[in-house]
Amino acid sequence: MDQIVVRGGNRLVGEVAVSGSKNSTLALMASALLADGVSVLDNAPRLRDVDAMLELLRALGAKADWNDESGHTLSIDASGVDNFEAPYDLVRKMRASFMVLGPLVARFGNARVSEPGGCAIGVRPVDQHLKGLEALGAKVQLQHGYVQATSSGLEGARLAFDLTTVNGTQNVLMAATLARGETVIENAAREPEVVELATMLSKMGAEIHAAGSDRIVVRGVKELRPVRHRVEGDRIEAGTLLAAAAITRGDVRVTGIDPSLLESTLEKLRELGAEVEVDADGARVRADGHQVGIRVVTAPFPGFPTDMQAQIMAVLTLVDGSSVVIENVFENRFMHVPELQRLGADISLSGRSAHVRGVEKLMGAPVMATDLRASAGLLLAGLVATGETRVSRVYHIDRGYENIEAKLRSLGADICREV
Ligand code: UD1
Repeated sequence: MDQIVVRGGNRLVGEVAVSGSKNSTLALMASALLADGVSVLDNAPRLRDVDAMLELLRALGAKADWNDESGHTLSIDASGVDNFEAPYDLVRKMRASFMVLGPLVARFGNARVSEPGGCAIGVRPVDQHLKGLEALGAKVQLQHGYVQATSSGLEGARLAFDLTTVNGTQNVLMAATLARGETVIENAAREPEVVELATMLSKMGAEIHAAGSDRIVVRGVKELRPVRHRVEGDRIEAGTLLAAAAITRGDVRVTGIDPSLLESTLEKLRELGAEVEVDADGARVRADGHQVGIRVVTAPFPGFPTDMQAQIMAVLTLVDGSSVVIENVFENRFMHVPELQRLGADISLSGRSAHVRGVEKLMGAPVMATDLRASAGLLLAGLVATGETRVSRVYHIDRGYENIEAKLRSLGADICREV
């Protein structure tokens, strides 16, 4: 199995363009199911998760593939969709597959989607997705590990999520676009990926108001048309590359990303001592000065993203003084901690809190990627650990980072993949 080998010690310097957002792309791909015809997504990242969604769309009867001209354009022709079942083997590979439920039941009145099941970073139930679809009048049954949702026409309704759920908001938002009448989604997620989905749905003909607030209003329409949409830059990839600047005391500019989406991450990098500049197309982090311990609390947008928690923790292992990292979004998202400890980090865990005491140096060691963002944290640590850090199970990284070793190498990292 592939491994990534990093030899630590190089300062990262330079400019790098980020890929399109993985999480946006997955939701936008599901939304293509709502329209009869060919939708096109430009700037889509070439990732395992995107390929997994393509495979699922094809299993449903769509023609879905990369369009070879640019290498980053996806075409999804949902006119031939004739199978409404998302099988266990595809859904268990990637939870985001569950987002086909809303579009299928809204457009075809019928969907059978495997329950995603447990996942390394916590239980991650889908009760809120189901609650939302039931509020719109879908009949939902759980049978043999599958969610069966049927409807003879969804009806707009007022619903309130019990907690903030990104994919849950997206699933229900997609369904509501074709429901009769008005839907009000209270306690909606405000993540940029929800806003981008609403933007694409609006281009398709949906009537959506106040996406990006916690109360989204949708007026249902009879049908949606296929569109062409350019995916926004990936804010987590951008944050990861800027964290790489911080941990290597380097100077990195990321481009192709709206810096307002990075604000909570930039704020924490500033607080620990890095210099941050933003411009219309990106952000720059210069980190040659003194760095100090900080407090990081993950929260739904606009709070600090849980998807950046492992990476910021890697940075904090080497600052002067102590830091506290509190994980409030997922209950089991500290699997990178034992691996960082293998590299010499001083971290103690207590429930949802990690106490990180800065050390002088990390030392290279073999480590194992346990999930997508944990693996990014390990790569960052490897960039500064003395000697060699060998990261195994890199398929986790390939789920969400396009060409990460080439990007880091272009900034001066000593990193390669061994196959
Ligand atoms: C999305 C992102 C993921 C990110 C997460 C939080 C995608 C493909 N993935 O995941 O990268 O880490 O948002 O920003 O976009 N929950 C329930 N019931 C539900 C739904 C969620 O209890 O029905 C809980 C989850 O277990 C979790 C919390 O809500 O503790 C937030 O999860 P959610 O926002 O739904 O995450 P995802 O949308 O799956």
